[in-house]
Amino acid sequence: MNISIIGTGYVGLTTGIALAELGNQIILVDLIKEKLDIIMSGVAPFFEPGVNELLSKHIRTGNIKTTMDGANAIMVTDMTFITVGTPSRKDGSMDDSHIRSASKMIGEALKDKEDFHVVVMKSTVVPGTTLGIIRETIERQSGKKGGSDLGIAMCPEFLREGAAMHDSMHPDRVVVGCIDDRTYEIMERLFSPLGSRILRTSPTAAEMIKYASNSLLATKISFTNEISRICEKVGLDVYEIMEGVGLDFRINPMFLKAGAGFGGSCFPKDVSALMNLAKQLDLDTPLLNGVMKNNEIQPQHLVEVAERTFGPLGGRRVAVLGLAFKPDTDDIRETRSLPVIRALMDRGAVVRATDPKAIGNFKAAIPDIVYSDDLEEILDWAEFVFILTEWPEYGTIDWGSKTHLSAVIDGRRSVDPVSMKNVKYWAIGSPLP
Ligand code: UGA
Repeated sequence: MNISIIGTGYVGLTTGIALAELGNQIILVDLIKEKLDIIMSGVAPFFEPGVNELLSKHIRTGNIKTTMDGANAIMVTDMTFITVGTPSRKDGSMDDSHIRSASKMIGEALKDKEDFHVVVMKSTVVPGTTLGIIRETIERQSGKKGGSDLGIAMCPEFLREGAAMHDSMHPDRVVVGCIDDRTYEIMERLFSPLGSRILRTSPTAAEMIKYASNSLLATKISFTNEISRICEKVGLDVYEIMEGVGLDFRINPMFLKAGAGFGGSCFPKDVSALMNLAKQLDLDTPLLNGVMKNNEIQPQHLVEVAERTFGPLGGRRVAVLGLAFKPDTDDIRETRSLPVIRALMDRGAVVRATDPKAIGNFKAAIPDIVYSDDLEEILDWAEFVFILTEWPEYGTIDWGSKTHLSAVIDGRRSVDPVSMKNVKYWAIGSPLP
């Protein structure tokens, strides 16, 4: 199939590559020429394992092309995916401006197109958006009717950053929300080569499935972190506890790892947007409020325990290892390293930070601390170390030789406690020292 994709961010580019892998011809559309130039050189504008290799392959073979001319891309393709950003506004609600402009552009282009065309919403949006803003705008601009003259579908993305290509090629499920059989059959033809279960539902239900999935995953993490703080005081190890809990197949072991909290572009944004939707509907969300509150408590808790246990941090040299919101990405959106570093700075600590991929992005958020690519140098300089992203390299440090350190605080369980015999060490969720 010939497919145009509007928006070449994380979801757009990885969706394009995955669909190219399935044998489709892809045109990526973006308004920023520099971004398209980078993509055409076979390099993704973000770090994600495996993406550059596949991107270069499909650029070379011509399966992936790019353009700034969205209208023409729509004319020469059979379907269009919308993968533009849906950032949060200050009040937590969804900023729909990019969706509105993409829908307007698609509608205008479809006015002159005779063939049946399917528009697929892929970005995470508040329930009601696809059949509301998107359908109404496209119908108004094109003069055509969704469900008969053109297809409208909502197909949420479930990939994780750092595992984007794996998740795109082996999804647990493909959720397809549409209002007509013809569109469903086209979507089924497109995704059946993946061999995953395809769930047919309505567009609004598909939107809600995405929000509910992310909110439940975030709930599992916050729940674990709350249990973790109780375990610490009772003298128990939360990892042992949650291993036992996760063996119940109704619960499963995933997303039960205690840590500094959840970050990223999705969980905080989606939980807030769902809470905001509920508020508009005059509903309380005590559980989701708690999920977000727990996520704010955890970074502060880490710093408070460190100070209570190992002494005041004011004026001390503190190294922060890990700035990305998780390993295998350079993404720092909502990373828990931000509140931890702010809490350290508020206490007057002298902070230096390192990360294998995310220093460049993090500098823009906090410009006034020293960054270093040299892990050994920063460890030699430090008195205290906070580990905030579980990059594998932190597990292989020769900690036994770092006897000059006053303490290592592991916010992600990145280090084998056996290797910490000569160093004062505390890991999140383990008994308080
Ligand atoms: C998440 C979902 O897992 C994807 O299914 C979804 O498609 C994506 O959001 C999205 O909506 O786009 P992602 O944000 O890439 O994916 O990252 P996760 O692997 O889910 O991790 C999110 C955060 O939770 C990270 O900060 C991670 O450190 C934290 N986490 C995760 C924990 O603290 N404990 C855990 O047990 C698992």
